[in-house]
Amino acid sequence: MITAEQTSTFPRFLDLAYPNVERGEGLWVYTADGKKILDACSGGAMVANLGHGAQEVIQAGARQAEKIAYFYMDHFTNEPMEQLADRLITTTAPEMARVRFASSGSEANEAALRLARSYHVDRGEGERWRVISPAQAYHGSTMATLALTGRTRTLQHPYEPYLSPHLHISMDGSGEGALRELDARLEEAGPQTVAAFFCEPISGAARPAFSPSEKFWRGLDERRAKHGFLICFDEVVTGMGRTGTWFAYQQLPIEPDIVTVGKGLGAGYAPISALLCKQHVYDAIDRGSRFFDLGHTWDGAPISCATGLAVLDALVESRLVERVRERGPRLLADLESALRGNPLVAEVRGRGFLLGISLVGMPDELRFDERVEDSAIEHGLLITTTHSTPDGYAGDEVVFAPALTSTDDELELMVARLAATMKDLS
Ligand SMILES: Cc1ncc(COP(=O)(O)O)c(C=O)c1O
Repeated sequence: MITAEQTSTFPRFLDLAYPNVERGEGLWVYTADGKKILDACSGGAMVANLGHGAQEVIQAGARQAEKIAYFYMDHFTNEPMEQLADRLITTTAPEMARVRFASSGSEANEAALRLARSYHVDRGEGERWRVISPAQAYHGSTMATLALTGRTRTLQHPYEPYLSPHLHISMDGSGEGALRELDARLEEAGPQTVAAFFCEPISGAARPAFSPSEKFWRGLDERRAKHGFLICFDEVVTGMGRTGTWFAYQQLPIEPDIVTVGKGLGAGYAPISALLCKQHVYDAIDRGSRFFDLGHTWDGAPISCATGLAVLDALVESRLVERVRERGPRLLADLESALRGNPLVAEVRGRGFLLGISLVGMPDELRFDERVEDSAIEHGLLITTTHSTPDGYAGDEVVFAPALTSTDDELELMVARLAATMKDLS
């Protein structure tokens, strides 16, 4: 365990001691002090979707590095970037037309915001800039993306002076309340000032596996048609197969104008993310300013894109998206039955290999989320939790998001260890 006093790094939480991870193999991670832990959260952040040590991906990155690892996309395009953009569209999202790469989820979402704004400006509607998003959401840590959450006290403080005053709604299961709130926000802002509605189609860590009813999505679609804002879906967590389709929106009766993907695109072997947009969004820029500038040094780097391409190949060749779609319902049923009767559990939800457990309300100062994580580690299991927000949007949640390569035995062991963890705490 390494404490703040024992490190030259600037830790996230200065009061915590961090175990030191040494290596990983498939679904197992090994710490420097000899612990062997089953990874039920894909590297802790729903990233390592192919498990640890995926040789075909590592070799693809190494082969590309031998040729050329890095070049700035301002000067040259490169074959891996061209191929990955093509394959993302043809294999994962044929309804999309263009791809722009970045390195992190925050960057991809920030680029989506810039694109939504440019779309309207290039069409002569420069008044549109506001974004409406669910209050419980998390879309990134840059100042533009941090403004998209409504968790003011827990996430935005003390950065408020840097954040744009966007608008938020709360989400209910039926979607009726959410639509009422959406109408109220549109009315308050003036719909002609709204550039985009930004959300996760199926929520990742913020409220794992939650998605409102079809009624909400159809209502949102109607309002887009009526008021002319764009819909941006953040699929940083859910993109690349986690919920049983390449993109989660492919299970819903709505398509976004812009969608972002992050974590699972590089699967932990390269920091790569992307935005994909529909033809009409591209056309607005094509007929307008003819540039969609600004970006980051590593956007579309050959080594990152070659790695992303190898991840995509691995998902296709091993039919992992199909496997998640077929195996997900049984995983949810097993988790529900293992946790049934546990007084700490309020709700179990799941889509594919993205599962969430809402815990019953606990006093904030108990930090029950941390107790669940620590106890899971004692049971040799790595899960992620999110803490309840005093803003009142959600309680403590457990995120269970195994690698798409998990075997049946590994999934069963994860469920058993989680049930044992929760039983110990109850
Ligand atoms: C839904 C969602 N969007 C965006 C992000 C930000 O991604 P990154 O941390 O790669 O910037 C995250 C990170 O957890 C996320 O869960």
